[in-house]
Amino acid sequence: MRIGILTGGGDCPGLNAVIRAVVRTADGRYRSSVVGFRDGWRGLLEDRKVALSNDDRIDRILTRGGTILGTARVNPDKLKAGLDQIRQTLDDNGIDALIPIGGEGTLTAASWLAESGVPVIGVPKTIDNDIDCTDVTFGFDTALSIATDAIDRLHTTAESHQRVMLVEVMGRHAGWIALHSGLATGAHLTLVPEVPFDVGEVCAMVKKRFQRGDSHFICVVAEGATPTPESMSLREGGIDEFGHKRFTGVAQQLGDEIERRIGKEVRTTVLGHVQRGGTPTPYDRVLATRFGVHATDAVHRGDFGNMVALHGTSIDLVPLEEATRRLKTVPRERYDEAAAFFG
Ligand code: F6P
Repeated sequence: MRIGILTGGGDCPGLNAVIRAVVRTADGRYRSSVVGFRDGWRGLLEDRKVALSNDDRIDRILTRGGTILGTARVNPDKLKAGLDQIRQTLDDNGIDALIPIGGEGTLTAASWLAESGVPVIGVPKTIDNDIDCTDVTFGFDTALSIATDAIDRLHTTAESHQRVMLVEVMGRHAGWIALHSGLATGAHLTLVPEVPFDVGEVCAMVKKRFQRGDSHFICVVAEGATPTPESMSLREGGIDEFGHKRFTGVAQQLGDEIERRIGKEVRTTVLGHVQRGGTPTPYDRVLATRFGVHATDAVHRGDFGNMVALHGTSIDLVPLEEATRRLKTVPRERYDEAAAFFG
Protein backbone atom coordinates (compact mmCIF):
# COMPACT_ATOMS: atom_id res chain seq x y z
CA MET A 1 0.00 0.00 0.00
CA ARG A 2 1.07 3.60 -0.62
CA ILE A 3 -0.05 6.14 1.97
CA GLY A 4 -0.08 9.91 1.54
CA ILE A 5 0.36 12.15 4.59
CA LEU A 6 0.15 15.92 5.12
CA THR A 7 0.14 18.44 7.95
CA GLY A 8 -2.27 21.36 7.54
CA GLY A 9 -3.23 24.56 9.38
CA GLY A 10 -1.14 26.12 12.15
CA ASP A 11 1.78 23.96 13.25
CA CYS A 12 1.72 22.23 16.59
CA PRO A 13 4.23 20.32 18.75
CA GLY A 14 3.78 16.60 18.07
CA LEU A 15 3.19 16.72 14.30
CA ASN A 16 6.59 15.14 13.63
CA ALA A 17 5.87 12.41 16.17
CA VAL A 18 2.75 11.45 14.16
CA ILE A 19 4.69 11.45 10.88
CA ARG A 20 7.37 9.20 12.42
CA ALA A 21 4.77 6.83 13.88
CA VAL A 22 2.95 6.52 10.52
CA VAL A 23 6.17 5.86 8.60
CA ARG A 24 7.47 3.32 11.11
CA THR A 25 4.16 1.50 11.51
CA ALA A 26 3.45 1.46 7.77
CA ASP A 27 6.85 0.02 6.92
CA GLY A 28 7.50 -2.12 9.99
CA ARG A 29 4.04 -3.66 10.34
CA TYR A 30 2.67 -3.66 6.78
CA ARG A 31 5.59 -3.07 4.36
CA SER A 32 3.67 -0.04 3.06
CA SER A 33 5.35 3.12 1.80
CA VAL A 34 4.59 6.73 2.78
CA VAL A 35 4.67 9.89 0.68
CA GLY A 36 4.61 13.26 2.45
CA PHE A 37 2.84 16.15 0.70
CA ARG A 38 4.43 19.50 1.40
CA ASP A 39 2.79 22.56 2.98
CA GLY A 40 -0.58 21.03 3.78
CA TRP A 41 -3.22 20.83 1.05
CA ARG A 42 -1.05 23.03 -1.16
CA GLY A 43 1.26 20.06 -1.72
CA LEU A 44 -1.69 18.13 -3.13
CA LEU A 45 -2.96 21.04 -5.17
CA GLU A 46 0.51 21.57 -6.69
CA ASP A 47 1.82 17.97 -6.57
CA ARG A 48 4.77 18.69 -4.31
CA LYS A 49 5.88 15.71 -2.25
CA VAL A 50 8.73 13.77 -0.67
CA ALA A 51 9.17 10.03 -0.09
CA LEU A 52 9.49 9.27 3.62
CA SER A 53 11.60 6.25 4.49
CA ASN A 54 11.88 4.36 7.72
CA ASP A 55 15.41 5.32 8.60
CA ASP A 56 17.44 7.09 11.21
CA ARG A 57 16.35 10.52 10.04
CA ILE A 58 12.67 9.81 10.59
CA ASP A 59 13.43 8.43 14.03
CA ARG A 60 15.15 11.62 15.10
CA ILE A 61 12.11 13.84 14.42
CA LEU A 62 10.15 12.48 17.41
CA THR A 63 11.25 15.28 19.71
CA ARG A 64 11.26 18.10 17.16
CA GLY A 65 8.58 20.78 17.16
CA GLY A 66 7.04 22.09 13.93
CA THR A 67 6.57 19.79 10.96
CA ILE A 68 9.21 18.47 8.56
CA LEU A 69 6.58 18.57 5.79
CA GLY A 70 5.77 22.25 6.21
CA THR A 71 2.23 23.48 6.63
CA ALA A 72 -0.07 26.21 5.35
CA ARG A 73 -3.49 27.62 5.94
CA VAL A 74 -5.68 27.37 2.85
CA ASN A 75 -8.93 29.24 2.42
CA PRO A 76 -11.76 26.64 2.62
CA ASP A 77 -13.45 27.97 -0.56
CA LYS A 78 -10.22 27.59 -2.54
CA LEU A 79 -9.85 24.11 -1.12
CA LYS A 80 -13.39 23.13 -2.09
CA ALA A 81 -12.76 24.36 -5.61
CA GLY A 82 -9.53 22.31 -5.70
CA LEU A 83 -10.93 18.94 -4.61
CA ASP A 84 -10.79 17.50 -8.15
CA GLN A 85 -7.15 18.55 -8.42
CA ILE A 86 -6.40 16.89 -5.09
CA ARG A 87 -8.03 13.65 -6.25
CA GLN A 88 -6.01 13.86 -9.48
CA THR A 89 -2.71 14.26 -7.58
CA LEU A 90 -3.58 11.28 -5.39
CA ASP A 91 -4.28 9.18 -8.52
CA ASP A 92 -1.15 10.39 -10.31
CA ASN A 93 0.98 9.33 -7.34
CA GLY A 94 -0.75 5.99 -6.85
CA ILE A 95 -1.85 6.93 -3.32
CA ASP A 96 -4.18 4.30 -1.82
CA ALA A 97 -5.07 6.24 1.33
CA LEU A 98 -4.48 9.69 2.79
CA ILE A 99 -3.73 10.69 6.40
CA PRO A 100 -4.27 14.45 6.82
CA ILE A 101 -3.13 15.74 10.23
CA GLY A 102 -4.76 19.00 11.15
CA GLY A 103 -7.32 21.09 12.98
CA GLU A 104 -10.80 22.27 12.09
CA GLY A 105 -10.02 23.39 8.52
CA THR A 106 -7.87 20.41 7.54
CA LEU A 107 -10.27 17.86 9.00
CA THR A 108 -13.27 19.53 7.35
CA ALA A 109 -11.51 19.23 3.99
CA ALA A 110 -10.69 15.61 4.86
CA SER A 111 -14.36 15.03 5.53
CA TRP A 112 -15.31 16.47 2.09
CA LEU A 113 -12.78 14.17 0.44
CA ALA A 114 -14.06 11.17 2.38
CA GLU A 115 -17.63 11.98 1.28
CA SER A 116 -16.47 11.93 -2.32
CA GLY A 117 -15.01 8.44 -1.87
CA VAL A 118 -11.33 9.20 -1.18
CA PRO A 119 -9.94 6.78 1.45
CA VAL A 120 -9.05 9.11 4.32
CA ILE A 121 -8.19 8.77 8.03
CA GLY A 122 -7.85 12.10 9.85
CA VAL A 123 -5.56 12.86 12.78
CA PRO A 124 -6.63 15.79 15.01
CA LYS A 125 -4.07 18.35 16.14
CA THR A 126 -4.26 21.79 17.67
CA ILE A 127 -2.79 23.54 20.66
CA ASP A 128 -6.25 25.08 21.16
CA ASN A 129 -7.76 21.66 22.05
CA ASP A 130 -10.98 22.64 20.27
CA ILE A 131 -11.55 19.58 18.07
CA ASP A 132 -14.76 17.82 19.02
CA CYS A 133 -15.17 14.09 19.74
CA THR A 134 -11.67 13.62 21.20
CA ASP A 135 -10.85 14.19 24.86
CA VAL A 136 -7.74 16.10 23.94
CA THR A 137 -5.49 16.95 20.98
CA PHE A 138 -1.70 16.77 21.09
CA GLY A 139 -0.04 20.17 21.25
CA PHE A 140 -2.38 21.33 23.99
CA ASP A 141 -0.25 19.94 26.81
CA THR A 142 2.88 21.60 25.43
CA ALA A 143 1.17 24.96 24.96
CA LEU A 144 -0.31 24.70 28.44
CA SER A 145 3.09 23.96 29.98
CA ILE A 146 4.62 26.98 28.23
CA ALA A 147 1.75 29.26 29.29
CA THR A 148 1.88 27.95 32.87
CA ASP A 149 5.60 28.54 33.13
CA ALA A 150 5.22 32.09 31.77
CA ILE A 151 2.34 32.97 34.12
CA ASP A 152 4.21 31.57 37.16
CA ARG A 153 7.02 33.97 36.27
CA LEU A 154 4.62 36.90 35.86
CA HIS A 155 3.23 36.29 39.36
CA THR A 156 6.56 37.04 41.02
CA THR A 157 7.28 40.23 39.10
CA ALA A 158 3.67 41.45 39.45
CA GLU A 159 3.85 40.83 43.19
CA SER A 160 7.10 42.78 43.56
CA HIS A 161 5.66 45.83 41.79
CA GLN A 162 2.05 45.51 43.05
CA ARG A 163 0.91 45.51 39.44
CA VAL A 164 -2.01 44.36 37.40
CA MET A 165 -0.67 41.95 34.78
CA LEU A 166 -2.67 40.70 31.84
CA VAL A 167 -1.36 37.75 29.88
CA GLU A 168 -2.83 36.88 26.50
CA VAL A 169 -2.75 33.23 25.49
CA MET A 170 -3.86 31.56 22.25
CA GLY A 171 -7.40 30.38 21.70
CA ARG A 172 -9.40 32.16 19.06
CA HIS A 173 -12.67 30.31 19.48
CA ALA A 174 -12.09 28.18 22.57
CA GLY A 175 -10.58 29.13 25.90
CA TRP A 176 -9.00 25.81 26.94
CA ILE A 177 -5.43 27.12 27.24
CA ALA A 178 -6.66 30.13 29.21
CA LEU A 179 -8.92 28.06 31.46
CA HIS A 180 -6.29 25.45 32.32
CA SER A 181 -3.32 27.83 32.64
CA GLY A 182 -5.44 30.13 34.80
CA LEU A 183 -6.36 27.25 37.10
CA ALA A 184 -2.82 25.86 37.15
CA THR A 185 -1.26 29.20 38.14
CA GLY A 186 -3.91 30.54 40.49
CA ALA A 187 -4.80 33.48 38.23
CA HIS A 188 -7.17 36.00 39.80
CA LEU A 189 -9.31 36.12 36.67
CA THR A 190 -9.51 34.20 33.39
CA LEU A 191 -11.35 35.48 30.33
CA VAL A 192 -12.41 33.06 27.58
CA PRO A 193 -14.16 33.52 24.22
CA GLU A 194 -17.15 31.49 25.41
CA VAL A 195 -18.12 33.97 28.18
CA PRO A 196 -18.21 37.69 27.26
CA PHE A 197 -16.76 39.85 30.05
CA ASP A 198 -17.95 43.15 31.47
CA VAL A 199 -15.08 45.63 31.73
CA GLY A 200 -16.74 47.40 34.66
CA GLU A 201 -16.81 44.11 36.59
CA VAL A 202 -13.16 43.42 35.77
CA CYS A 203 -12.20 46.88 37.08
CA ALA A 204 -14.27 46.38 40.24
CA MET A 205 -12.50 43.07 40.87
CA VAL A 206 -9.08 44.68 40.47
CA LYS A 207 -9.98 47.54 42.82
CA LYS A 208 -11.35 45.16 45.43
CA ARG A 209 -8.16 43.08 45.49
CA PHE A 210 -5.92 46.08 46.04
CA GLN A 211 -8.32 47.70 48.56
CA ARG A 212 -8.14 44.62 50.74
CA GLY A 213 -4.35 44.75 50.64
CA ASP A 214 -3.54 42.06 48.09
CA SER A 215 -0.24 42.52 46.30
CA HIS A 216 -1.08 41.95 42.63
CA PHE A 217 -3.66 40.93 40.06
CA ILE A 218 -3.03 38.38 37.33
CA CYS A 219 -5.58 37.96 34.58
CA VAL A 220 -5.29 35.34 31.82
CA VAL A 221 -6.99 36.48 28.62
CA ALA A 222 -7.68 34.13 25.70
CA GLU A 223 -7.00 35.96 22.44
CA GLY A 224 -10.62 35.39 21.39
CA ALA A 225 -12.14 36.75 24.62
CA THR A 226 -14.52 39.63 23.96
CA PRO A 227 -16.13 42.25 26.16
CA THR A 228 -19.89 42.70 26.25
CA PRO A 229 -20.66 45.36 23.60
CA GLU A 230 -22.15 47.73 26.20
CA SER A 231 -19.02 47.65 28.39
CA MET A 232 -16.34 48.28 25.72
CA SER A 233 -15.90 48.16 21.96
CA LEU A 234 -12.84 46.34 20.63
CA ARG A 235 -10.84 47.42 17.62
CA GLU A 236 -11.17 44.76 14.96
CA GLY A 237 -8.17 43.15 13.30
CA GLY A 238 -9.44 41.81 9.98
CA ILE A 239 -11.01 38.52 9.00
CA ASP A 240 -9.54 35.04 9.46
CA GLU A 241 -9.47 32.25 6.86
CA PHE A 242 -12.93 31.05 7.94
CA GLY A 243 -14.43 34.51 7.48
CA HIS A 244 -14.59 35.18 11.26
CA LYS A 245 -13.78 38.66 12.60
CA ARG A 246 -10.40 38.87 14.37
CA PHE A 247 -9.89 41.17 17.33
CA THR A 248 -6.22 41.87 17.70
CA GLY A 249 -4.65 42.61 21.02
CA VAL A 250 -7.65 42.13 23.29
CA ALA A 251 -5.42 42.03 26.41
CA GLN A 252 -3.64 45.26 25.46
CA GLN A 253 -6.96 46.98 24.78
CA LEU A 254 -8.39 45.76 28.07
CA GLY A 255 -5.23 46.86 29.91
CA ASP A 256 -5.48 50.36 28.45
CA GLU A 257 -9.11 50.52 29.50
CA ILE A 258 -8.36 49.40 33.10
CA GLU A 259 -5.65 52.06 33.40
CA ARG A 260 -8.01 54.71 32.02
CA ARG A 261 -10.89 53.75 34.29
CA ILE A 262 -9.14 53.13 37.61
CA GLY A 263 -5.69 54.62 37.17
CA LYS A 264 -3.91 51.44 38.16
CA GLU A 265 -0.62 50.54 36.47
CA VAL A 266 -1.11 47.62 34.07
CA ARG A 267 1.41 45.52 32.13
CA THR A 268 0.43 43.22 29.31
CA THR A 269 2.26 40.16 27.96
CA VAL A 270 1.22 38.46 24.74
CA LEU A 271 2.63 34.92 24.64
CA GLY A 272 1.77 34.40 20.97
CA HIS A 273 3.56 31.79 18.88
CA VAL A 274 5.99 30.88 21.67
CA GLN A 275 3.14 28.59 22.77
CA ARG A 276 3.32 26.66 19.50
CA GLY A 277 7.07 26.35 19.09
CA GLY A 278 9.68 23.97 20.36
CA THR A 279 9.79 20.41 21.53
CA PRO A 280 6.57 18.61 22.55
CA THR A 281 6.05 17.48 26.14
CA PRO A 282 6.28 13.72 26.86
CA TYR A 283 2.44 13.58 27.02
CA ASP A 284 2.13 15.08 23.54
CA ARG A 285 4.85 12.82 22.10
CA VAL A 286 3.03 9.76 23.41
CA LEU A 287 -0.43 10.88 22.25
CA ALA A 288 0.85 11.90 18.80
CA THR A 289 2.68 8.58 18.44
CA ARG A 290 -0.41 6.59 19.45
CA PHE A 291 -2.56 8.60 16.99
CA GLY A 292 -0.05 7.81 14.21
CA VAL A 293 0.01 4.07 14.95
CA HIS A 294 -3.80 3.82 15.17
CA ALA A 295 -4.33 5.90 12.00
CA THR A 296 -1.99 3.56 10.09
CA ASP A 297 -3.74 0.48 11.46
CA ALA A 298 -7.13 1.97 10.48
CA VAL A 299 -5.84 2.62 6.95
CA HIS A 300 -4.83 -1.04 6.60
CA ARG A 301 -8.17 -2.24 7.96
CA GLY A 302 -9.94 0.04 5.47
CA ASP A 303 -11.87 1.95 8.19
CA PHE A 304 -12.00 5.11 6.09
CA GLY A 305 -13.90 8.35 6.65
CA ASN A 306 -12.87 8.45 10.32
CA MET A 307 -10.65 10.41 12.66
CA VAL A 308 -8.56 8.90 15.46
CA ALA A 309 -9.63 10.17 18.87
CA LEU A 310 -8.67 9.79 22.51
CA HIS A 311 -11.44 8.54 24.79
CA GLY A 312 -10.18 8.00 28.30
CA THR A 313 -7.05 5.96 27.71
CA SER A 314 -8.17 4.30 24.44
CA ILE A 315 -7.70 5.49 20.89
CA ASP A 316 -10.95 5.07 18.96
CA LEU A 317 -12.29 6.09 15.57
CA VAL A 318 -15.05 8.67 15.11
CA PRO A 319 -16.65 9.68 11.79
CA LEU A 320 -14.92 12.76 10.35
CA GLU A 321 -18.30 14.21 9.53
CA GLU A 322 -19.34 14.04 13.21
CA ALA A 323 -16.02 15.37 14.54
CA THR A 324 -16.13 18.44 12.30
CA ARG A 325 -19.75 19.47 12.94
CA ARG A 326 -18.80 21.89 15.70
CA LEU A 327 -15.84 23.06 17.76
CA LYS A 328 -15.32 21.81 21.30
CA THR A 329 -15.61 24.96 23.38
CA VAL A 330 -15.36 25.45 27.14
CA PRO A 331 -18.71 24.52 28.72
CA ARG A 332 -20.21 27.07 31.11
CA GLU A 333 -19.92 24.69 34.07
CA ARG A 334 -16.17 24.28 33.51
CA TYR A 335 -15.77 28.07 33.50
CA ASP A 336 -17.87 28.37 36.66
CA GLU A 337 -15.62 25.80 38.35
CA ALA A 338 -12.61 28.05 37.67
CA ALA A 339 -14.58 31.14 38.72
CA ALA A 340 -14.56 29.88 42.31
CA PHE A 341 -10.92 31.09 42.39
CA PHE A 342 -11.48 34.51 40.81
CA GLY A 343 -11.01 37.74 42.75
O1 F6P B 1 -5.34 27.45 15.63
C1 F6P B 1 -4.25 27.50 16.47
C2 F6P B 1 -3.78 28.88 16.67
O2 F6P B 1 -2.64 28.72 17.43
C3 F6P B 1 -4.76 29.87 17.33
O3 F6P B 1 -4.86 29.77 18.70
C4 F6P B 1 -4.23 31.19 16.89
O4 F6P B 1 -5.23 32.14 16.87
C5 F6P B 1 -3.77 30.88 15.50
O5 F6P B 1 -3.41 29.53 15.49
C6 F6P B 1 -2.64 31.74 15.02
O6 F6P B 1 -2.44 31.45 13.70
P1 F6P B 1 -1.27 31.98 12.78
O7 F6P B 1 -0.10 31.09 13.02
O8 F6P B 1 -1.81 31.87 11.42
O9 F6P B 1 -0.99 33.38 13.22
